[in-house]
Amino acid sequence: MAEYLIWLNGKYIPRNQAKISMLDRGFRLGDVVFDTERTFNGKVFKLRDHLERLYHSLQYMRIDPGMTMDDMEQLTLDVVQNNEPNRPPGDDYMITQIVTRGQADSLAPSPGGAKVTPDLKANVSIWIDPIDFVGHSRLYRDGGHVVIPKTRALSSDQVDAKVKHFNRLHFVLAQMEVADVDPDAFPVLLDTDGNLSESTGFNFFIIKDGKLRTPGDQNILQGITRTTVLEIATQLGIPFTCENNLQPYDAYTADEAFLCNTPSCILPIVKIDNRILGDGSPGPITKQLMAACEEMVGLNFVDQADRRSQDAH
Ligand SMILES: Cc1ncc(COP(=O)(O)O)c(C=O)c1O
Repeated sequence: MAEYLIWLNGKYIPRNQAKISMLDRGFRLGDVVFDTERTFNGKVFKLRDHLERLYHSLQYMRIDPGMTMDDMEQLTLDVVQNNEPNRPPGDDYMITQIVTRGQADSLAPSPGGAKVTPDLKANVSIWIDPIDFVGHSRLYRDGGHVVIPKTRALSSDQVDAKVKHFNRLHFVLAQMEVADVDPDAFPVLLDTDGNLSESTGFNFFIIKDGKLRTPGDQNILQGITRTTVLEIATQLGIPFTCENNLQPYDAYTADEAFLCNTPSCILPIVKIDNRILGDGSPGPITKQLMAACEEMVGLNFVDQADRRSQDAH
């Protein structure tokens, strides 16, 4: 299978050969923002929404990517088009714009120094990453588990949670803690006040008495998929609330739950901290939302995961 090509500072490079300096501030300081889309049948979904979020993250962090949002959009579409001959039948992938503030080897007092100097030039890349279809195939069918770890979500008092960045040590800790309890579980972190926030790269929903409930905007990334789910719920007439003080109790006593993000769309959850939800299989409203989401994106992503997973074996 041909290697996907990524775009790095103006050049196309095979994915396994792309490199930037270890002096880069993304590596030394986590001074880096990004955004991730996915393709459905080779077409990028909601690209403009993702780029608006990326450019808000850049503006918040005062990183200049050296190109307009229109340029970034065109480049992303070019990356997709140039990789079309490399895309195996039935495959789709994640596509990620990564912008670091640049290489810190000249004016800064030390390579790891946080001072922002005028000579810094952003490193911009547009990446392609595979989707874990094997993992998804099982999770779509059987549902996944959630464990609430003791590691808390970062507070927006430090960096606003609406910024999408690679400072994710708390996610790594949360993943390890959760794996100690249940190797298959996803963490859902509490915020510093003990309210449900989000998972490590997913937003979280519960369903109770026919109503969707999801953490409010205060301490979460405002996921594009979360917005899509709320759009679908509106179309289907399913009521929803976004609440800043959802408690573990609400999750334990829910009828259904799911995680959502760009590569996975909607992942049913059937167990939270060892409490089985409903009959222990993906719930009816979750399945209704998944089917409506498949219609919206124009691809049966559950079948795709099954097919791609069989191809991998
Ligand atoms: C911390 C966090 N929360 C939520 C999400 C889901 O966002 P989206 O639906 O835009 O992929 C992501 C996506 O990677 C994320 O990193």
